[in-house]
Amino acid sequence: MKEEIAKIQSDALTAIGAASGEQELDEARIAFLGKKGRLTAASTGMKDLSKEEKPVVGQLLNATRGAITEALEAKRNALQDEADRAALEGLDLTLPGRPLHPGNLHPLTQLGDRAIGILRRLGFALAEGPEIETEFHCFDALNTPPEHPARNEKDTFYFDSGKLLRTHTSTVQVRTMETQPPPVRVIAPGSCYRRDEVDKTHLPVFNQLEGLYVDTDVQVGDLKGALEFFYRAMFGEETEVRFRPHFFPFTEPSFEIDARLQLEGHDPEWIEVAGCGMVDPAVFEEICKSRGDELYHPDKVTGYAFGMGLDRLAMIKWGIKDIRLLIENDARFLTQFA
Ligand code: PHE
Repeated sequence: MKEEIAKIQSDALTAIGAASGEQELDEARIAFLGKKGRLTAASTGMKDLSKEEKPVVGQLLNATRGAITEALEAKRNALQDEADRAALEGLDLTLPGRPLHPGNLHPLTQLGDRAIGILRRLGFALAEGPEIETEFHCFDALNTPPEHPARNEKDTFYFDSGKLLRTHTSTVQVRTMETQPPPVRVIAPGSCYRRDEVDKTHLPVFNQLEGLYVDTDVQVGDLKGALEFFYRAMFGEETEVRFRPHFFPFTEPSFEIDARLQLEGHDPEWIEVAGCGMVDPAVFEEICKSRGDELYHPDKVTGYAFGMGLDRLAMIKWGIKDIRLLIENDARFLTQFA
């Protein structure tokens, strides 16, 4: 029996050595160590052995099983190494990698985030409202009479239902005061729509950021201080800001804000950056009617509001000469803001 076992071992090692692949190796394993394999078959002879021989042959069987298992393992590793080497053949690990293009935020998003960040430091909370609006929220509640040119079909997108695409974010002033008691201090960034011809400075869809602060004793000085702070944080500490009297139906007094800025290749000049003013008492009266209470009675509260074009601000900040670049998704333009 001992010779038989020795023969099995040498046959097994030969077969394993000759195996040229995973499958042949497995066949060898089954042929020798499998349930019906030769070593297993040989071990059934144990029962005919004498008491003295049994442990000796038993040990031999174990040693043989161990040797064959080891040889199988070693061969498996060798085959794997060979496969790895073949796979790496011709692969030059010193070649530089392919560049990754991680992408970056759109300049408008960057500018909006920055503006929101500055205004949050002043205590403004984010508010929002729908882009499809009622005439009430867009015009009537904002003291804009029916004959006002902004309400014209030529300037505003109307739906058959009589609703419209909001022409400014001032609608959010109204919605905020309708749903929240004073004091309120909110900003509302978002899209607005006007029937403008597309050119270098106009798109029918653009972005505004509205601000509203209403409390018991808000004054023009508060408005000036807040917006001066904003434009200095946005364009640099040394930025001069001026308030020019203007007219908006929903604020009185009203101003346009100019900042003195130096655009690339230009001398410093005054550039209009926002509209603003003290909320008109007529607006507060509309809010009282709509709410059915007197919390916003013009004898009790005052407030300021402002609105600025974010696209315009981005164009000024980065010297972008054509607003259309902001919507064309041209990577050559957008990657400059990475
Ligand atoms: N809604 C005005 C516009 O679109 C801007 C504005 C907002 C002016 C708030 C005054 C107060 O031009």
